[in-house]
Amino acid sequence: MKEYIDRSLMLNPLGEYLKWLKCKIRYQVKHWGKHIRIGYLSAVDSSSFGRYNVIGGHCVVSNTTMGDFSYVNSYSYILNATIGRYCSIGPNVKIAPGKHPTSVFVSTHPVTFNNQGNLVKNYCTEQKFKNTQPVTLGNDVWIGANSIIIDGVNIANGAIVAANSVVVKDVGAYEIVGGNPAKFIRKRFDDEQIKYLQETKWWNNDETWLQNNISRFWNIDDFTGPAIIPTIIMEPAKAV
Ligand SMILES: CC(C)(COP(=O)(O)OP(=O)(O)OC[C@H]1O[C@@H](n2cnc3c(N)ncnc32)[C@H](O)[C@@H]1OP(=O)(O)O)[C@@H](O)C(=O)NCCC(=O)NCCS
Repeated sequence: MKEYIDRSLMLNPLGEYLKWLKCKIRYQVKHWGKHIRIGYLSAVDSSSFGRYNVIGGHCVVSNTTMGDFSYVNSYSYILNATIGRYCSIGPNVKIAPGKHPTSVFVSTHPVTFNNQGNLVKNYCTEQKFKNTQPVTLGNDVWIGANSIIIDGVNIANGAIVAANSVVVKDVGAYEIVGGNPAKFIRKRFDDEQIKYLQETKWWNNDETWLQNNISRFWNIDDFTGPAIIPTIIMEPAKAV
């Protein structure tokens, strides 16, 4: 019976707009006081947010948690992720887009291993292959435009993924990686400075602290100077 129903015939701009509005109101009301923004025609489900998160237009965010201040640029797909605080996710990024089997299974086509999804017809009555695996981003991670973060990858605090990269394995703290597959380019700071940042965990500090120390962010030497005394009063972010 399913093969005779073409759901696309039921879609129309007004329906899509109302669906988006319902989703936006639901999430923005649920997170009232946290000042989150769901951009135009973005779809969000099974996700939770911190404060000041921004989801750009035309994104899909599913099964994801996001820490304070992290934002996602337009046309990105984030399907299964734990994202720390202060992360910047560029446009057209795909995080945990899903997997198909590459060995053992005879076919990569889900009709042979998956009982879910949008297939018109499906011969598999059970889920025989786990086709998603969560991705973790630490805090202060920057994902460049058009990048893909493959399922199961962990990207640690302060890392940068260069534009147009495909990240297939874990990225260490404060590393810059790029290319397809993404390779180590360099570290952002020297090992002492990285250790200091990792221990300081500045991303856990409250907004007053951030406001009072903002000028120290403009030079790593000022930041690692003796005057910085973190006042950690927030719940620690889920970081790798
Ligand atoms: C990686 C990036 C941050 C530059 O960092 P940087 O430290 O200034 O790096 P440099 O430009 O000095 O380049 C360092 C090396 O990385 C390489 N590199 C830079 N960008 C790269 C990319 N996208 N993919 C692969 N390698 C890249 C350079 O070729 C260079 O290699 P070399 O040392 O062999 O010559 C920048 O190129 C980038 O990709 N920015 C993302 C922009 C973006 O997507 N913005 C969206 C807004 S959220």
